[in-house]
Amino acid sequence: MKAVKRWSIGNLGDIPVSFPGARHRAPPARRRVWIIMVLSLISMFFITAYMYPHHSKRACYMISSRGCKALADWLPPSLREFSDDEIAARVVIREILSSSPVIRKNSKVAFMFLTPGTLPFERLWDRFFQGHEGKFSVYIHASKERPVHYSRYFVNREIRSDEVVWGRISMVDAERRLLANALRDTSNQQFVLLSDSCVPLRSFEYIYNYLMHSNLSYVDCFDDPGQHGAGRHMNHMLPEIPKKDFRKGAQWFTMKRQHAVATMADSLYYSKFRDYCGPGIENNKNCIADEHYLPTFFHMLDPGGISNWTVTQVDWSERKWHPKTYMPEDITPELLNNLTSTDTLVHVTSVGVGEEIWMPCMWNGIKRPCYLFGRKFHPDTLDKLLDLFSNYTRSVTWNL
Ligand SMILES: *[C@@H]1O[C@H](CO)[C@@H](O)[C@H](O)[C@H]1NC(C)=O
Ligand SMILES: *[C@@H]1O[C@H](CO)[C@@H](O)[C@H](O)[C@H]1NC(C)=O
Ligand SMILES: *[C@@H]1O[C@H](CO)[C@@H](O)[C@H](O)[C@H]1NC(C)=O
Ligand SMILES: *[C@@H]1O[C@H](CO)[C@@H](O)[C@H](O)[C@H]1NC(C)=O
Repeated sequence: MKAVKRWSIGNLGDIPVSFPGARHRAPPARRRVWIIMVLSLISMFFITAYMYPHHSKRACYMISSRGCKALADWLPPSLREFSDDEIAARVVIREILSSSPVIRKNSKVAFMFLTPGTLPFERLWDRFFQGHEGKFSVYIHASKERPVHYSRYFVNREIRSDEVVWGRISMVDAERRLLANALRDTSNQQFVLLSDSCVPLRSFEYIYNYLMHSNLSYVDCFDDPGQHGAGRHMNHMLPEIPKKDFRKGAQWFTMKRQHAVATMADSLYYSKFRDYCGPGIENNKNCIADEHYLPTFFHMLDPGGISNWTVTQVDWSERKWHPKTYMPEDITPELLNNLTSTDTLVHVTSVGVGEEIWMPCMWNGIKRPCYLFGRKFHPDTLDKLLDLFSNYTRSVTWNL
């Protein structure tokens, strides 16, 4: 009696299908209907299991725990169950992000300067801040020497600081130190990280409104599948930080208060970068903590809450290890006009000769100029920038 017949079915392999009581063999047409029905049921089962892995795992374990091991292994690894630490981190951060921003008349922007010592553009910043007292606060992390000040807005604004080594976790630590100090003032609602070579490209009102009336934090973030992107991911970061979520971006951010608090609250993801992102780990991949920690952290925990680009312009067009430094002869109304009118932006990956990813700069759904600040200005450009300041910032009235 041939109650069991083996049907060879594509890549599912051989599945025995039995027809009970097959004394009267079903005619070929009816048999085909059966096969199709059984096949549909099997594929529906696998599709459902794949789409709802947690449910199917749970349901499966209720029936047989041994047979489920195979199912669990087959399901996508990204949908593994979180550890206690991850569940705790995610619930705390979600709670922080669920509070809505409170923008009041006395809300301030915190300008946080990361510098070795004296800030060469203090006089330009002084011009920028004039007349806007009460709407901003200044914090300085001077990692090498005590700065000499040229502006009353900068006097006594240093926080206790520590040594900073470029590309190491000490850079991230300095950023966190600035954030923590700036968060102590509850009227600070926006937090801007700047370097000693940064200059304002816009008037104070423009920058204040751009940041205050936006729900996003301007954190740079993109996927670089090449050796200077995903290639710097360390196996030690697994399983909390999968390679597919590893991101890159320039460190110069602006953050709304909730994101600043969330950054302070994180120790789980931070510790992965502290311990495993640096030189000499895993075949000497050169992981640069400040280029990867925040982009990866926000990509994993609040991807929709960040812009994915930075409002601090820098010129990478020379494609060197460091960006171009603007010299006095470069400072012309034309250059400043170019920098302030750019409204699309490019991320250059380390794939091939530098594959480019272009994106428009969207501010609350409207295409807007990308940049509020410029970076890598030589100290000797100060006088020219002061001369041109009122011209290049006279800008466009702001329509909200
Ligand atoms: C930023 O990129 C992520 C994907 O990485 C995306 O989900 C998010 O919507 C983007 N943010 C904005 C404001 O478009
Ligand atoms: C300004 O932008 C134009 C058009 O992209 C370019 O041709 C020109 O060289 C730029 N000038 C400066 C000074 O960057
Ligand atoms: C920003 O968020 C607030 C509160 O969630 C919302 O009312 C507002 O419409 C948002 N604004 C934009 C431009 O998305
Ligand atoms: C001001 O800038 C514009 C271009 O943005 C330029 O044409 C003009 O000459 C500048 N004025 C002065 C006084 O530099």
